[in-house]
Amino acid sequence: MAATTELISALLLFLLICSCNISNSEKTRRPEPCKRLVLYFHDIVYNGKNAQNATSAIVASPAWGNKTTLAVPNRFGDVVVFDDPVTLDNNFRSTPVGRAQGFYLYDKKEILTAWFGFSFVFNSTRLKGTINLAGADDIMKTTRDLSVVGGTGDFFMTRGIATLMTDALEDDQYFRLRVDVKLYECY
Ligand SMILES: *[C@@H]1O[C@H](CO)[C@@H](O)[C@H](O)[C@H]1NC(C)=O
Ligand SMILES: *[C@@H]1O[C@H](CO)[C@@H](O)[C@H](O)[C@H]1NC(C)=O
Ligand SMILES: *[C@@H]1O[C@H](CO)[C@@H](O)[C@H](O)[C@H]1NC(C)=O
Repeated sequence: MAATTELISALLLFLLICSCNISNSEKTRRPEPCKRLVLYFHDIVYNGKNAQNATSAIVASPAWGNKTTLAVPNRFGDVVVFDDPVTLDNNFRSTPVGRAQGFYLYDKKEILTAWFGFSFVFNSTRLKGTINLAGADDIMKTTRDLSVVGGTGDFFMTRGIATLMTDALEDDQYFRLRVDVKLYECY
């Protein structure tokens, strides 16, 4: 009986060491980014009065909401299309290097979460081409990772991870996201 118990604990210990080794080697196998850039994008949400200035629009809302005010609870069911200026620093008035264009939709009633599908479209002397992103945005978390699923031009065939942080949030009317783009495939 004692021998069996010892055997089992030896086996468990062995399995534990094995699994530790696997997760360690998997971590060390993660590559360093081949290109990295930090971008900011500025979203001015339509509030019923700022149609001239707004850079995003609610284009679909649940039957119990409307397209002027974000839905309750937690904006669930709203689909927002945006065309936001992209800058290299956090200043709204800096010269943009491109636009962030696409949509986000709010996809959970219980808490604030969104799903993003958009492109960084660059058209500056420094940067040309696009970076295409998609993924879940758990807004309540400090940092969220989106997938970089592809690119064109300076970012031909790229893939990687983009880490989002909410850099500013003003009265549901303006938000600024900081995006740390880490690319692992560069050509
Ligand atoms: C939209 O819904 C909000 C409440 O959710 C309401 O206060 C507002 O008046 C509505 N706007 C329009 C244009 O129906
Ligand atoms: C990109 O910039 C060039 C030069 O300013 C301009 O001719 C071209 O129309 C722009 N393209 C887009 C898609 O904005
Ligand atoms: C447009 O919106 C931004 C962000 O809310 C604000 O800083 C700016 O003053 C607005 N501009 C105009 C002309 O209303």
